Amino acid sequence: MSLLRVEKMTHYFGGLRAVHNYELAIEPGQVRGLIGPNGAGKTTIFNLITGIYQPTEGKIMLDGTELNGRAPHVIASLGIGRTFQNMLLWRHMTVLEHVKMARYSKLTYGLAGAFFGTARRYQQEAESEEIALRLLKMMGVEQVADQIVLNLPYGAQRRVEMARALAMEPKVLFLDEPTAGMNPEELLQMMDIIRQIHGELGMAIFLIEHRMRVVMELCQKIQTLVFGEVIAEGTPEEIQNNPKVIDAYLGKEVVQ
Ligand SMILES: Nc1ncnc2c1ncn2[C@@H]1O[C@H](COP(=O)(O)OP(=O)(O)OP(=O)(O)O)[C@@H](O)[C@H]1O
Ligand SMILES: [Mg+2]
Repeated sequence: MSLLRVEKMTHYFGGLRAVHNYELAIEPGQVRGLIGPNGAGKTTIFNLITGIYQPTEGKIMLDGTELNGRAPHVIASLGIGRTFQNMLLWRHMTVLEHVKMARYSKLTYGLAGAFFGTARRYQQEAESEEIALRLLKMMGVEQVADQIVLNLPYGAQRRVEMARALAMEPKVLFLDEPTAGMNPEELLQMMDIIRQIHGELGMAIFLIEHRMRVVMELCQKIQTLVFGEVIAEGTPEEIQNNPKVIDAYLGKEVVQ
C-alpha cells in the first residue's frame, strides 16, 4: 500500500478547471517532484491534499486514512508537513519558540498539567525543546535559536520554516519551491538539507520546484503538470528526454 495515494482528483475554481484527474502514489521514503509552468496547478495540488481546498472530485488517502473533508490542522497532525511558496512565519517569535510551538499538537499533558505543572508537562516540554534544538541543528540554524525570525537572512528563515514542518514529525514533507529566491550558496545548502532529511530521517518528500537542477538531482520520480494535467511521469532522465515535456515546459525554462 502506498503511503500517500491520490485518485482521480479534479478541482474547479468557479469555471476554471485548475486540476484534472490527478493521480499520485508516493511510497515510504520516496522523493517525488512536481514541475510545470506557472499557473499549471502545482500549488493547488498541495492545497487540495493538505485540506486548504476541498477537491471537486477525487479521493486522498494517507497511510490508510481518508483525508477528504478534514481540516488542514488535522491533516497536519495525521502526517503531512509542509512549507509554503510564500513563506508563512510568525516573524516576531524567536527561532526556537517557532519550532517548539509547532509541537504543541504533540503534547498530551492536558489542561491540569498546563495549570499545575505536572511532572509529565515538564518532561514533555523538555523533550519538545530537545527535538526542536536537534532539528535546528540539522537545518544549520541552531546558533540563532534565540533570535527573532524577522532578523534572519532569507535562506535561514526558509530553514526555520522547514524545521517547523519537521517538528510535527510528518510522514511526508511537502516543499513548495524551497529554493525560490535563494542565492547560489543558499541553494546548495538547501539541497544538502533536503538530502539529509531524506537520508537521516528516511522521510518521504514531495517537492515543487522550478530549478531543474534541484528536481533532477534530488527526485527519484517526477511528474510534469501542464494546465492541471499530468503530461508525463518518470525518472529524471525520462522526464528530461521526453519531447512533450521539453515542448511544454523544459524548452522554455532556464536550466540551472
Ligand atoms: N484561490 C484561487 N481562486 C481562483 N483561482 C485560483 C486560486 N488559486 C489558484 N488559482 C488559479 O489556478 C491556477 C493554478 O494555480 P497554482 O497557484 O496552483 O499554479 P502553480 O503551478 O503553483 O504556479 P506557480 O509556478 O506560478 O506557483 C492558476 O490559473 C491560478 O490563477
Ligand atoms: Mg505555485
